[in-house]
Amino acid sequence: MSLLEWKSEYSVGIASIDDEHREMIELINSTYAKLESDPDDQIERGLEDIFTAISMHFALEERFMLNADYDEYDAHKADHEELLDQMRDLMDAYVASPELGAVLLEQGLSDWFSVHFASFDARLHGKLDA
Ligand SMILES: [Fe+2]
Ligand SMILES: [Fe+2]
Repeated sequence: MSLLEWKSEYSVGIASIDDEHREMIELINSTYAKLESDPDDQIERGLEDIFTAISMHFALEERFMLNADYDEYDAHKADHEELLDQMRDLMDAYVASPELGAVLLEQGLSDWFSVHFASFDARLHGKLDA
């Protein structure tokens, strides 16, 4: 089962950002699909990979926003930081208890990602310089 699905309304119209959004969705879905079958340490590594990919993606998006002098930069960056904090908490929860971590992963990642994509990221459309 997939946790997240790409939707055309997520597109911000910048190929590198849209490609990374698709890659993050794939990475999250593939880690989620392994939750019941793979050993905990491999799931932990998958979560680390997701965290790295997300951190790099946020940095890319923030560079685009700065270059374009985007007026919602501060609020958007603050939401990125909040998401990274939540991702860290989720990873800690998984290490402490894989069962609880799996539940949080399912609820948390799908919700906060789709909300961020559909709100903050979608508003970037037409606002960034290609
Ligand atoms: Fe964003
Ligand atoms: Fe994004």
